[in-house]
Order: sequence, then structure tokens, then C-alpha cells
Amino acid sequence: MSPPSGLRQPPGRLSSEQGLGPEDLRAIEDLATACVAADGGRLKLELGTLQSRPTDQVNDFLWIAEPGPVGFLGLYGYRPDQAEICGMVHPSARRQGVFSRLFEAATAELARRGVPQALLVVDRLYEPGSCFARSAGGTIEHSEHRMTLRREPAIVVADPLVTIREAVLADVPFVLSCLTEAFGLPTEHLGDEELAALARRFPGTLVIDYANEPVGTVRVDRSDDAAGIYGFAILAEFQGRGIGRQVLSALARDLSAEGVAEIGLEVSCTNDTALRLYTSCGFDVMGTEDYYAVQLRSRGVGSERGVQ
Ligand SMILES: CC(C)(COP(=O)(O)OP(=O)(O)OC[C@H]1O[C@@H](n2cnc3c(N)ncnc32)[C@H](O)[C@@H]1OP(=O)(O)O)[C@@H](O)C(=O)NCCC(=O)NCCS
Repeated sequence: MSPPSGLRQPPGRLSSEQGLGPEDLRAIEDLATACVAADGGRLKLELGTLQSRPTDQVNDFLWIAEPGPVGFLGLYGYRPDQAEICGMVHPSARRQGVFSRLFEAATAELARRGVPQALLVVDRLYEPGSCFARSAGGTIEHSEHRMTLRREPAIVVADPLVTIREAVLADVPFVLSCLTEAFGLPTEHLGDEELAALARRFPGTLVIDYANEPVGTVRVDRSDDAAGIYGFAILAEFQGRGIGRQVLSALARDLSAEGVAEIGLEVSCTNDTALRLYTSCGFDVMGTEDYYAVQLRSRGVGSERGVQ
């Protein structure tokens, strides 16, 4: 039977998940390994995030066929006006409409929440991924280089007034205002409960203090032997004093010393200042991801402005 939307019906069924169990996580990792072996490049799956998904919201979609999952799509991000999408289909199950079905389910969920825009994250090397994004009506909104620590992290003279600590709930307003200033994150309308939910969903958020006053934030997403550095922002008035360099070098050194084999981060292709900083701290550009924006039609149901 064809699905109601008229999309093709590939063999198997959709499974929408509220939180991911160990079996799902293993299946997603296996799927990613098979895809990267076939396609090269990188899938921005943020395994650390997948391991700590909230159980009160559907963020993950699997296509289950024999003998197991052949497709995965995850919703990511913290913006109420936008959700990132990353996913893949096993090379042996492509061009049967699997990703179209996952995408249909994911965008229906976003429309239900009132999120107006999806951003499909596609490695620039992935021709089928770019074709899918364009066929879904997407246009490139921005592009980011992904960088990996390839050289010994720079040793910098540490200013003892700069300290890093784990964020606590009371830091949420600061962290959000810092991210708003740096990345234009629209959070003004979020209530206390939504702010608290946001904080719970982002373990690994750190606050950078200068003389015991918060001046910046960064988030470290850890999985077994890899770490991603995200949401790195220093308040404008404290930029240019070496704080970012000191923090990044310290994080890179600490993670390396803990045995983390791969330390990565992402930076907008047009952010020359950050690119220079990261390069001088030992990071090299390993590839580029295009973010395709797809406008969604809100269904107006409930229109809860959920944070993800
Ligand atoms: C991109 C990807 C997820 C598509 O999965 P899929 O199940 O094969 O996609 P579908 O069968 O639903 O394709 C839907 C449409 O996308 C476009 N498309 C998909 N693969 C394509 C290809 N190889 N060449 C040209 N167009 C393609 C077509 O318009 C297709 O419709 P059609 O088959 O009716 O022509 C899969 O190729 C993949 O896993 N690629 C590597 C990971 C990746 O790029 N992920 C980014 C997505 S976030």
C-alpha cells in the first residue's frame, strides 16, 4: 500500500523513537560505518548527543527492513526556529524512497512543533545528499568547514584569571545570551521551563570565567574516543585578549591527555578570524558541510515552540 503522501513504499517500516537504546545506537553506528566506507567523507551524527536524547520527544527516525535498520534520520539543534537534520541510508537500500519517508516523518514532527525551517547537513563530497536536499526544495543557507586537531595543541601562557567550569542551571540565561550574541540565537521568548529543558539536553556545556565573571561558553560533545567542540563563544567585549586561544588549547590538551583520539570542531567558511585561531591551535580543515535550508509548512497543531 502506498503511504498517504503518495511517496514510494520501500520494503520495511518507519520507527519514530523517543530516546535511543543501546541496540538502536549500535545499529546507527554500523549504518554510518557502512555509508562512510562507501561514500567517504563524514556524517554529522553527534553520537554523544544521540546517547543522551530526551525521552519526552521524538528526534530520531529509523527505517527498519530485513535484517535491521537501513536508514536513519536525526533532528538536532537548540533553536526554536530551526532544526538540523542529518541521516543516511545503507548503500544497498538507496533510491527506493527510504530517506524520503524518513524526511516526511521528520518534517511532519517539526511542523507539529511549529518549527518553520529544517537545515539538511550534507558533506560537500556527497552528491546523492546534495541531490536529495535540492529535490526537497533546499538551498544552501551557509557552509561550515570541519576541522580536526592534527598537530600538537599550541602551548600558551595561561592567564590565571581565565577558568573553565561545568555550567549549572543558573548559568543557562548567560549561556543563551552569549550564544545569542555570537550566533543570533533567538531565545527571547523562551520561558524558565524551556530554558531548563534546554540545559538538560545539552550536557557538556562549560562556562568560561574571567576573574570569576562569566565571559564565554563552549560545549564538548564526548563519545568513546572522539570529541566535538561546539557553541564556542566569547562575549564581544572580552574578545581579542587571548581567552579563546587559552581555552581551546587547554581543552585540546586535556582531551588528548585523556586519550581522545579525534577532536573536531566546525566553523563557518566565512569566519576568517576563527579559522585562523583554530589553525594556529593545531586544527586543520578536513572537509566542508553545506547546510541546505528547507522551509516547512506549519500544521498549526498545538504549535508548541519546543526547544530540541
Ligand atoms: C542522501 C541519501 C540519504 C538518500 O537516501 P535514499 O533513500 O537513497 O533517497 P530517496 O530514495 O528517498 O531519494 C529521494 C530523491 O532524492 C534524489 N536523489 C537521491 N539519491 C540520488 C542520487 N544518487 N542521484 C541523484 N538524485 C538522488 C532524487 O531526487 C530522489 O528521487 P527519485 O529517486 O524519485 O529520483 C543517501 O544517498 C545517503 O545515505 N547518502 C550519504 C549520506 C548523506 O549524504 N546524508 C545527507 C542527508 S542529511
